[in-house]
Amino acid sequence: MNLSAANHRIPLSDGNSIPIIGLGTYSEPKLTPKGTCEKSVKIAIDTGYRHIDGAYIYQNEHEVGEALREKIAEGKVQREDIFYCGKLWATRHDPEMVRPTLEKTLNILQLDYVDLYIIEIPMALKALEACKDAGLVKSLGVSNFNRRQLELILNKPGLKHKPVSNQVECHPYFTQPKLLKFCQQHDIVIIAYSPLGTSRNPSWVNVSSPPLLKDELLNSLGKKYKKTAAQVVLRFNIQRGVVVIPKSFNPERIKENFQIFDFSLTEEEMKAIEALNKNVRFVEMLMWCDHPEYPFHEEY
Ligand code: A2P
Repeated sequence: MNLSAANHRIPLSDGNSIPIIGLGTYSEPKLTPKGTCEKSVKIAIDTGYRHIDGAYIYQNEHEVGEALREKIAEGKVQREDIFYCGKLWATRHDPEMVRPTLEKTLNILQLDYVDLYIIEIPMALKALEACKDAGLVKSLGVSNFNRRQLELILNKPGLKHKPVSNQVECHPYFTQPKLLKFCQQHDIVIIAYSPLGTSRNPSWVNVSSPPLLKDELLNSLGKKYKKTAAQVVLRFNIQRGVVVIPKSFNPERIKENFQIFDFSLTEEEMKAIEALNKNVRFVEMLMWCDHPEYPFHEEY
């Protein structure tokens, strides 16, 4: 795969494609000054990012829309250069809620369509398929699905549009080897959230596992390539075909995270990084662990 800063889209099974790096935009709303997200998205686009990962539930989708519209008006990019992924929140699965919820996101963004719209738990697919047929979304995907839940969808009688992607936690301490293999076999792209090991906010992150970016091997590889541990971690995933969506609202780090197309890791280094896998999640979502569809009780 020849990935470059100017050209780093990878194919999706429905004929569309996805830039292999995107800017994550989740930031604790109460702790984030207004306008930070908008500013960050603009810096990201100027840096070369063409993929923005957002959600209505993040409470800053309007800022993403503002930034995108401004960059399009400026002539920096065209709408079709941009890949926006939105999300259907867990309380909006009833079929009659699906289209209005997607339309709300489109209204907030002031866009005609989103590139990818993803759901967290099976069931909403029929209503979403109609949204794709109506042109409101280009590709359909899921998030936090385990193998059984993916199979439930893939084996659904009358399935029209199969999910093109599964957005899950994925980084060197949680490499997801089995889910990745299963998804590759079914043409489902893995999108890695928390690819840098999260903000380590103890209110939602399991901080018992050590910080990923302090890892000795990752830092020594960084030294070898004159890169940071963060860049090594992102390179590791894109080099094995996993899309990464590092969140940063810091201009320097937004730029740093995009400088991953000018070096590559050797096969042995890839293997050594894979061996760091601890099989421990940073994002456990334990508040939902009693839900019958809680996805993380199963091995993968
Ligand atoms: P900030 O927005 O201040 O840059 P993840 O995407 O894995 O959830 O990680 C996001 C967290 O990592 C955020 O707290 C973000 O903070 C921080 N971060 C983003 N890029 C880097 C980087 N290159 N080096 C260190 N920390 C980073």
